[in-house]
Amino acid sequence: MRILAIESSCDETAAAVVEDGTTLLSSVVASQMDTHGKYGGVVPELASREHLRAVVPVVREALERAQTKLPELSAIAATVGPGLVGSLLVGLTYAKSLSFATGVPLIAVNHIEGHIHAVILEAGAVEFPALALVVSGGHTHLFEVRENFAYRLLGKTRDDAAGEAFDKVGKLLGFGYPGGPVIDRLAPYGNPRAVKFTFARMKGNALDFSFSGLKTAVLRWVESHNMTAEIEARRALFRKNSRPSVEEWLALTPQPTLDLVASFQYAVVHELLTRAAASADLIDARSLIVSGGVACNSGLRAAAESAKLPYPVYFPTPGLSTDNAAMIAAAAFPKLRRGEFAGLDIIAQANLTLA
Ligand code: KG4
Ligand code: ZN
Repeated sequence: MRILAIESSCDETAAAVVEDGTTLLSSVVASQMDTHGKYGGVVPELASREHLRAVVPVVREALERAQTKLPELSAIAATVGPGLVGSLLVGLTYAKSLSFATGVPLIAVNHIEGHIHAVILEAGAVEFPALALVVSGGHTHLFEVRENFAYRLLGKTRDDAAGEAFDKVGKLLGFGYPGGPVIDRLAPYGNPRAVKFTFARMKGNALDFSFSGLKTAVLRWVESHNMTAEIEARRALFRKNSRPSVEEWLALTPQPTLDLVASFQYAVVHELLTRAAASADLIDARSLIVSGGVACNSGLRAAAESAKLPYPVYFPTPGLSTDNAAMIAAAAFPKLRRGEFAGLDIIAQANLTLA
């Protein structure tokens, strides 16, 4: 059973064909990084326009690479939310029209559930109950996942998402957008214990996250360390070249700033893993799933490994950690088996929740 999926919730136009929920036949991702980079974040109007340009060729390429014709599909899936409404509309509307034209049923998928299924797609199966940490530019959530993919929300960020914190700190320090991958590559050159950030104590639900205090602490550090010239030099580099090498960044980044970067990443990783491990204990989890763009972070992967947790920890490969459509096709597969189809009147839901 082959599913074509389309993902367009933020700044990636993606299409993929997955067979039987676990065999990846094709996955195409058109990134809009170069469009948004110079603005230091995603510009919703530009994102919708880029999706409109990319969606038809991206879907065509995914079908060609999978050597699949539309009538051979068992379903067409699309992300219905959460995300930018104008962006969601492009992928969803295209999926609806393909479904209408071919008679292939439509399946609506929650983007966050997609991130969780990126792991299932690669691992085949995980042990339930699982604790899922979904950590990206838009979300930082902890879910209990039970058999048949029943979800319970255990904690979430009260302010910024972890990826957003990476991006804001990256922008503040002059590393362009998105900041996460650059900070990840530079952190090994700094001392993660050089700057002590305080761990956010949460009133109420102790499994909630908060990253705004950390972001403000970095801002205060920058304000008190006379960094204007180095930040301006890095901004100039990014304006000239949207993908500088590590060596180019290092040449413009003094040791105290590398220490700051390493300490910031250490604090985010510590915050994520501490609350994820506490949640896993609470539900007697038999596995931990980490997914979403921030799951690419090598410091997070290394820390999860060295923590020697008493259950397996699953990360998707980097290409399936960031936004992609293969995860949407994988999440659609159990719905196809249950016959959970969407009507053509379904609408994009910017604030859709999973549980
Ligand atoms: O899942 P994703 O592609 O899109 C959303 O659904 O948000 O995640 C993008 C986020 C960005 O904030 C980006 O900075 C972050 O993931 N990210 C990383 C890394 N790679 C991507 N953060 C830390 N380390 C990385 N290696
Ligand atoms: Zn995402």
